[in-house]
Amino acid sequence: MPRELPLAEIFQLGYYWETKILLTAVKLDLFSSLGGKAHTAPEVAERMGAHPRALELLLNALVAMRVLVKDGDRFANASVARTHLVRTSPTYVGHLLLLHEAEWDHWGKLEETIRTGRSPARGHVFETDPELGANVLAVLDRIGQQSGPALARRLELTGARSLLDLGGGVGTHAIAFCTVYPELTATVFDLPETLTRAEQAVKEAGLEARIALRAGDFNRDPLGGPYDVALMSDILHYQGPDANSALLTKVYSCLAQGGRLIIKDRFLEPSGTSPAWVTAFAVHILVNTEQGRCYTVAEAMRWMEQAGFKSVEELERTAVVQGVKPS
Ligand SMILES: C[S@@+](CC[C@H](N)C(=O)[O-])C[C@H]1O[C@@H](n2cnc3c(N)ncnc32)[C@H](O)[C@@H]1O
Repeated sequence: MPRELPLAEIFQLGYYWETKILLTAVKLDLFSSLGGKAHTAPEVAERMGAHPRALELLLNALVAMRVLVKDGDRFANASVARTHLVRTSPTYVGHLLLLHEAEWDHWGKLEETIRTGRSPARGHVFETDPELGANVLAVLDRIGQQSGPALARRLELTGARSLLDLGGGVGTHAIAFCTVYPELTATVFDLPETLTRAEQAVKEAGLEARIALRAGDFNRDPLGGPYDVALMSDILHYQGPDANSALLTKVYSCLAQGGRLIIKDRFLEPSGTSPAWVTAFAVHILVNTEQGRCYTVAEAMRWMEQAGFKSVEELERTAVVQGVKPS
């Protein structure tokens, strides 16, 4: 039996002032304005086009939060902010925080969404707000660069010649998989706006000869093929059940006989109450996407079996599911 939550932690869970202070500072790009030097509040206000007295209150709070330091009346970035919150830093992580900031208004409508079941989000972020979509992709690229090569090895794809990375984003997985398996070629299928970023990443990886980019809407356009392997990473939770079921049928038809479909997603346990992060992510998806949902592994497996896949199995708990097109 888990320990009951103490009252102090309930207050902590309900407290978001510091969250919004940090997100606003990132949105204002305050840390880049400070850069590597110390400035007074009026100086920073002038640089940013902000109100000096209002800004000083924000700066003081950020000092108390240990993101900034203050010496006399001058403010400077603490080393963590210089390293991760200044835009020009190669280890900038503001993309994720900007994403949270951009979703703030939708979260503000959570009560209404819970009452009506209807999300305030319209359309698909990758189509309606390419700049925000680019932030999502920057975050996913960062995660995928770390986890992609190990995932590729765990999947044991030796012998496979062609990979379809469906909704492959900036090509993070295609790049990781082609790096691990020298005989593999890949096709990144994605929306045209996204592929401009993929083009750059593939070029930087020196894999233009082995990774093709195919622009289109995967719900409407042909996917090409036949492929030995199809990967769908973080795709299902952006769409409704009917679209997913239809998409898996389409993927089945573009695979070679004996081909494998690998789905990587953030699945819920059947109880719906774990993994803990996914339970909160499911609410995020509810309020920030028009049709999206977090699914259970069983739901994904059912769509795969309906599409004709055999040997459907959960390879990694609540994370990776695989099915094979019979030979
Ligand atoms: C959450 S991202 C996942 C990116 C990548 N697979 C990964 O794991 O890092 C979803 C991707 O699906 C693409 N996408 C969404 N709807 C699409 C559609 N209808 N047709 C093609 N691509 C789509 C988006 O542009 C985006 O790159």
